[in-house]
Formats: sequence, structure tokens, C-alpha cells
Amino acid sequence: MKKVIVISTSLRPGSNSDMLADKFVEGAKAAGHDVEKISLVGKNLQFCKGCLACQKLGRCVINDDVNDIMAQVLKADVVVWATPIYYYEMSGQMKTLIDRMNAMYPLDYQFRDVYLLTTAAEDEEHVPQRAVAGLTGWIDCYPKSRLAGTLFCGGVNAARDIEGNAKLQAAYDLGNSIA
Ligand SMILES: Cc1cc2nc3c(=O)[nH]c(=O)nc-3n(C[C@H](O)[C@H](O)[C@H](O)COP(=O)(O)O)c2cc1C
Repeated sequence: MKKVIVISTSLRPGSNSDMLADKFVEGAKAAGHDVEKISLVGKNLQFCKGCLACQKLGRCVINDDVNDIMAQVLKADVVVWATPIYYYEMSGQMKTLIDRMNAMYPLDYQFRDVYLLTTAAEDEEHVPQRAVAGLTGWIDCYPKSRLAGTLFCGGVNAARDIEGNAKLQAAYDLGNSIA
């Protein structure tokens, strides 16, 4: 049994990427894993100030919700990110959280497999590529980890557009494939 943390970064009600995340969670739970989902909705998430105090303290000096999220990420075996594509990139809130988790950089970590789930209005293959590349920049800083899988659902723009989409089953299957 693996400890899986799913971080859903869209802030809108009826979020398509959040529904992909829910299906991934369902699949991973059905495979017997210990799964926790964190949504950034309602979270206090401030920008990184770049002070680098975290490199000595092992935590961020900003007292918002990030230190708790970071503690959960450090304990997880599998980290799953879900994000809407904004301007051919990950959402700003996902990037902000990644930057704010800089305290983790010198610490030991448990996670090995990282997944990325994305949604966008357009449905071309290139649409999520910069988000994948951006997340790879984070993964490269944790050399014991790797990008284990990505799932892109294009052609969904309005809230809940993803309902009935075959990519929901694909997200379930991806979660269920965690061994
Ligand atoms: C600020 C912003 C930028 C966006 N940029 C893109 C884009 O570059 N390409 C695209 O196909 N869709 C783009 N979209 C559409 C979203 O990716 C799409 O609505 C997606 O389904 C949102 O996912 P969510 O429901 O999980 O928030 C953008 C939406 C917003 C609000």
C-alpha cells in the first residue's frame, strides 16, 4: 500500500481537472492505496518572497497553509498534481505552491512517482507540454523521483464540461495502475 497525495489546484466550482483528480483518487483507492486529496480552494497560499530562510529552517517563514501541505508531500510515496492549463502552462496557483515548497529542497523525501493531470479548452497534443516541462523542472530537483505519468483532457472549457468524457475512466485507470 502506497501513500498517495493528490493536489488539485483549480479554484473554480465544477472544475474539470478536479473531476479528473477525483477519478484518479477513486482508482488509487480501489487498488488499496492510502489516498489523500488536497484542494487549493479556500487555502491561504501566498507568494514566495525568495528569502531562502527555508533552507536553514526546514519550513517557510510565511504562516499560511503551505507548511502543512509540504509536510504531507514529504510523507507521500506518490504525488499527483491536477491543474487547468492557463496560457499553455500550469496554473499560477500550482506554480506558486511549487515555489513555496522550496523548504523541501534540502530535506529527505519519500515520493518517487509523480503524475500530472491537465485540462484545457483546446485539444491539441502540444497544449499541456509546457506544464509537463514546468513540472519536470520541479521533479529534476528531487532526483529520486520521476514523472511516472501524465493525462491530458482537452476540449473542455466550461465548468463540468468533462462529465461523460472518456478521460475520466482513463484517470481512474491511471490511479488504479499504481503498484
Ligand atoms: C486564465 C486562463 C487561461 C487559459 N488558457 C488556456 C490555454 O492556454 N489553452 C487552452 O486550451 N485553454 C485555456 N484556458 C481554458 C481552461 O484550461 C479550461 O477551461 C479548463 O477546462 C479549466 O480547467 P478547470 O475546470 O479544472 O479549472 C484558460 C482558462 C483561463 C481561466
